Amino acid sequence: MADDYISTLEEVAQWRDELEAESKKLVLTNGCFDLLHAGHVRYLKEARSLGDALVVAINSDQSVAELKGPNRPVYPEGDRAEILCALECVDRVVVFGEKRATHTIETIRPHIYTKGGDYTPDNLIDEEKALLDRLGIEIQILSLVPGRSTSATLAKSSPASSVPRIGILGSGTGTNSRAIIEAVQAGDFEAEIGIVISDVKDSGVLEFAKEAGVPSIFVEPGTEKAGRLSDAACKEITDKLKSARVDLIALCGFMRIVRDPILSTFEGKVINIHPSLLPQFPGRNACQQAIDAGATETGCTIHWVDSGIDTGEIIRQAKVPVLPGDTAEQLQQRINEAEIRLYPEVVGELLKKTIS
Ligand code: GAR
Repeated sequence: MADDYISTLEEVAQWRDELEAESKKLVLTNGCFDLLHAGHVRYLKEARSLGDALVVAINSDQSVAELKGPNRPVYPEGDRAEILCALECVDRVVVFGEKRATHTIETIRPHIYTKGGDYTPDNLIDEEKALLDRLGIEIQILSLVPGRSTSATLAKSSPASSVPRIGILGSGTGTNSRAIIEAVQAGDFEAEIGIVISDVKDSGVLEFAKEAGVPSIFVEPGTEKAGRLSDAACKEITDKLKSARVDLIALCGFMRIVRDPILSTFEGKVINIHPSLLPQFPGRNACQQAIDAGATETGCTIHWVDSGIDTGEIIRQAKVPVLPGDTAEQLQQRINEAEIRLYPEVVGELLKKTIS
């Protein structure tokens, strides 16, 4: 039955050539489309109006789960194809299993490729942008319909849960993220881990999240210089945190600057832990900075995240002595012991007091 509504890439590629022979233009767009709403319908109508035929490439069920989390897709791919095909503006539907639509675009070679809303020609995935440019495919970014989104629809339809949800971002060993996850799982305070995100594929952060059975994903940080995230990565992180409906985001050794749209979307909800008594020794190598400065005391700080580097309002600190002859590694180890005691405690308190 589903096959009645799903075309193969080869069928569509052949159809594209037939359309071209008649001087007609094929428009391609892609997405999950797992809970169709009016915003989608208006978007698809607009996409169709740009050419003479519209092909919608939908992510396979497995790739939707990878992109949006284990509770998605709402509808399986066969149903999604059937629903989309029922729209007058949609001519064909194909399914793709990869994370990116590059193979689909390359095979179909549409005349026009459209993307929705918060994309700009600059934050399209680099790989897709390079391909579109190489094949001379016109890119059209269509504005999204305000107030219509799958996450908003799902949030309205699911009974409001009173259990607050935590998002964790980390890059390294993951002792802090582990301490928070273990505190949640031990029931030290009422919370759920919404999602764990890392910019490092083989990080301890992701490894422990998997072991603990909490949702986790790797986000490709892009090719920006060290410490920066590409626009596409910032958007992907924002989307993942939104889908996970998190109330508080704890940075646990996340070694990239967190900026908009993450900060503007989660204003007043992002906290960080830093291995010094801020405002002393911000940025990288805080322990070495403390030793070089001849400090006899340092520690760790939990603070709200603003657009500066370790500049946000301080929430709590713990002091740790610098011992004679300390190496940066020895000092880091001692600070870390203080961090993993303090961070879960502060997260629990904030969830109780601050998050409404
Ligand atoms: C922690 O010491 C944390 O304070 C530091 O990275 C370490 C991560 O350890 N963060 C920063 O330096 C941020 N500026 P972990 O991966 O074991 O949690």
